[in-house]
Amino acid sequence: MNKASQKPVVLVTGASAGIGDAIARRFADGGYDIVAVARREDRLRQLADDLHGSARVAIVAGDVAAADIPGRAVATAMETFGRLDCLVNNAGSGKWAPVHETDDATLDEVIDISMKAPFRFCRAAIPVMAAGSSIINVGSVFGTLGGLDGGIYCAVKAGLVGLTQTMAAQYGADGIRSNLVAPGVIRTDMTEAAWEAPAFQRVNHEMTPFNREGTTEDVANTVFFLASDQGSYINGQTIALDGGWSTTKYLAREALLCERVPG
Ligand SMILES: NC(=O)c1ccc[n+]([C@@H]2O[C@H](COP(=O)([O-])OP(=O)(O)OC[C@H]3O[C@@H](n4cnc5c(N)ncnc54)[C@H](OP(=O)(O)O)[C@@H]3O)[C@@H](O)[C@H]2O)c1
Repeated sequence: MNKASQKPVVLVTGASAGIGDAIARRFADGGYDIVAVARREDRLRQLADDLHGSARVAIVAGDVAAADIPGRAVATAMETFGRLDCLVNNAGSGKWAPVHETDDATLDEVIDISMKAPFRFCRAAIPVMAAGSSIINVGSVFGTLGGLDGGIYCAVKAGLVGLTQTMAAQYGADGIRSNLVAPGVIRTDMTEAAWEAPAFQRVNHEMTPFNREGTTEDVANTVFFLASDQGSYINGQTIALDGGWSTTKYLAREALLCERVPG
């Protein structure tokens, strides 16, 4: 193992795109070295090239659902940098279907990627983390509220809230904090196809009391804040990033005039 790096180190899953890519770049800006995990190695190499000169990026290319990847990723952090200060469990599958239409293959896939994998990453990371470290899970407001047709996606995101709270209790006294960010709808590859759908328009424009869409940078800034000294008394919390959608009964005046379509 190398002598421990002077810089703090973050491990980000799903760093090849969307929210995870923005998180990796935010932590690089904030002075961290990075362990980047995802299946698309070319995208991770591009990230490492982009960050050359500001952060060192160790790449672990693979499926987070593979049982050995969490251990390999944590070992990479320790072998490359000699420390691990923050774990961000961000990789997720966006499969979305009503309960009665969810087959076992989908059930297993979403649980493997979005519940078992974060659990295994936490299990591997906690023993090497020192006081002052933290874990941030990326959930969803659909995991705290439920959502029409959300099915297993909502269930695993709710499960991450429980995991976050129990880790906050178990490891808080060791100085390791655990928190969860719950984005609303953010424009990424995962949601790109849905943006033209009327339901998305209503959630993001008519039912959100704020006049812009949320961005990947909004999520990344909050994750960075939670990991930083400025967030050092925040433990076991779920922070919604949705412009106030999930905590208000807001409807734009124009939307209030809409008539409900029966059936
Ligand atoms: N976008 C939203 O509106 C929204 C809202 C609430 C919560 N979230 C959550 O935010 C997180 C990131 O979503 P996003 O919108 O940024 O999605 P995205 O743009 O589709 O990116 C997903 C990332 O996860 C990685 N990933 C997916 N499955 C993986 C697997 N089996 N093994 C390794 N990596 C895997 C992908 O990398 P590879 O394909 O290269 O493996 C990619 O880097 C997810 O947990 C999602 O549920 C998103």
